[in-house]
Amino acid sequence: MRNFTLIVIVIISTNQVGGQLIRYTLSSTSTTVSALIDMFYQLPIFSGPFRVAEDIISSGRGAITSLSGTVIHALGGHLPTLINKTILKHFDDIVADYHAGLGNEDITLSIEKIIEKYNHKVEKHFVTTEDQYCLTLFRIPNKGPAVFLMHGLLGSSDDFVVAGPEGGLAFLLTREGYDVWMGNARGNKHSKQHLILNPSDAIFWDFSWHEIGYYDLPAMIDYVLASKNTSSLKYIGYSQGTTTFFVMTSERPEYNEKISAMIALSPVAFMTKVRSPIVRLFTPGTPLIYYITKIFGIREFLPDNNLIRSLKFLLCGTLPLAEILCSNVIFLFTGFGYEQLNVTNLPVLYGHMPAGASVKQIVHFGQGTMSGDFKMFDYGYFNLKLYGNKEPPHYRLYKVVTPVYLFYSDEDWLAHPDDVEKLYSSLGNAKEMYKVPFEPFTHVDFIWGKDVKTLIYEKLKTILLSH
Ligand SMILES: *[C@@H]1O[C@H](CO)[C@@H](O)[C@H](O)[C@H]1NC(C)=O
Ligand SMILES: *[C@@H]1O[C@H](CO)[C@@H](O)[C@H](O)[C@H]1NC(C)=O
Ligand SMILES: *[C@@H]1O[C@H](CO)[C@@H](O)[C@H](O)[C@H]1NC(C)=O
Repeated sequence: MRNFTLIVIVIISTNQVGGQLIRYTLSSTSTTVSALIDMFYQLPIFSGPFRVAEDIISSGRGAITSLSGTVIHALGGHLPTLINKTILKHFDDIVADYHAGLGNEDITLSIEKIIEKYNHKVEKHFVTTEDQYCLTLFRIPNKGPAVFLMHGLLGSSDDFVVAGPEGGLAFLLTREGYDVWMGNARGNKHSKQHLILNPSDAIFWDFSWHEIGYYDLPAMIDYVLASKNTSSLKYIGYSQGTTTFFVMTSERPEYNEKISAMIALSPVAFMTKVRSPIVRLFTPGTPLIYYITKIFGIREFLPDNNLIRSLKFLLCGTLPLAEILCSNVIFLFTGFGYEQLNVTNLPVLYGHMPAGASVKQIVHFGQGTMSGDFKMFDYGYFNLKLYGNKEPPHYRLYKVVTPVYLFYSDEDWLAHPDDVEKLYSSLGNAKEMYKVPFEPFTHVDFIWGKDVKTLIYEKLKTILLSH
C-alpha cells in the first residue's frame, strides 16, 4: 500500500502528460495489482460470513489476480483522471477558495432554513406512495403555475437551493413567479420512511429508480395537482430525475397529460457511453464485479466504504486537492471541471449531499451501461418468473408524449451526446436537443455551475413560458 502511494505521488509530480497520469500509473506498475487485491480483500464482503465470497476465493484465484485488469476493463479501458495539470495549476486558488467557504453557515442549515434565510416562504408536505413509502416535498409557494423539480442519484431537494439565491434553480423560478415544488425520492434523507418497513431492514432498500418512477413520482405529482386544484404542471428533472420521469411516463402513460412540458437537464436513459467510474464498476460485466454487486446485496449505498475510498485514491491520488475535490462520492460519479466549479461553495454542497440511495439504483444504472438499452431491472434467472421473459422488458419510450426538451453537454460523464441523441429519436414527442454552449460543461454544472444562469436558465425560462 505504501509503495503504491509513493509511486503515484512521484508520477503525479513528474509526469507531463496531464490527463493520462493515472492511466499511466495503472498500466505500468505491477505493484498496482497487489495493492488492488489488498484493497478488495479488506472489504468486509470478503471477510464476512458470505458463501459467495468463499466461492470466489476458492474457485477464483485467477479472477482475483486479474482484478486490476478487471477494474480497468469495467471502467471502459482506462480511468478518467480528475486531478490533472489544469487543476493542479490552480492549486493555491482552490485551497484558498475552499477555506474561505468553510465559514458559510449554509453548510449546516436545513433546506427550510436556507430558503427562509433568503426571504422566501417554505412549506413541507408529506405523501405516502401506493407501496407505503413516506416521502417529503418542499414547496416555495407562489401564485404562478406549478413547477416540479426532481433531483438526481444520491441527491435531494436541497440540490436546487444549495447554490444560493443567485445560482439555485428553485430561487430563480420563484422569482419568476412559479410555484416551486421539490420532490424527494424514497431512500434519501428526507424520504427515509415507510409505514411498515424500517431503513435498517434490507427489504426497505429493495428498489431501484424503476420504483421511484413508478410509485414516487406519480404520488408526488398527484399530490401537487390536488393541492393546486389544477390539471397539469411543468417538470424539470436533473439526471436520475429524468430517468425516473421516463419510467413514469412510459409505464403509466396516463401521466403524460399531467405534465405540460418536461425539461431534462442531463438526461440519463441510454448509457452506452457512460464514463462514470462508479457506475461502470457496478456493471455486471465480469464474474468478479458481478459477485461484488451480488454480495453488496440489496441495501443502502454507503459512500464511505473501502471501494469508494480506493476509487478516490485511483482517480484523484493523494494530494491535498484530493481531499477537497474527491472526498465527496458525488464527484466520483460525475466528475467535475475546474471552469464551472464554484470551489467556495463546495463546503455547502458537501453539507447537503450525498443524501442517500440504494445499491440497487446503481446496479440498475450499471446494467444499462452493459446492455446499452433502457430496460427494467435484470434479475437474471428470475426474469422469466417476474417478467414472463428471459430478458427484462424495454421501457417503451414512444409512449412518452409529453413535450420533452433535452439539455446536454460534451463533457458530461453520465449523459453522453450520442446517448442523448438516441433518446431524442426514441421519445414520442421530443421537441429539442439543447447543447450547452460551453464545451467543458460537466454533469454537476447543470445545477451548480458558475454560469448556470446564462448557460441553462435563460433557455429554460423561455421554454417554460412557451408552455
Ligand atoms: C377546482 O377547480 C375547478 C375548475 O377547474 C372548480 O370547479 C372547483 O370548484 C375547484 N375546487 C376547489 C376546491 O377550489
Ligand atoms: C483537465 O481536465 C479538464 C476538465 O476538468 C479538461 O478541460 C482539461 O482539458 C484537462 N487538461 C489536461 C491537460 O488534460
Ligand atoms: C460561489 O459561491 C459563493 C459562496 O457560496 C457565492 O457567494 C458566490 O456568489 C458563488 N459564485 C458564483 C459565480 O456563483
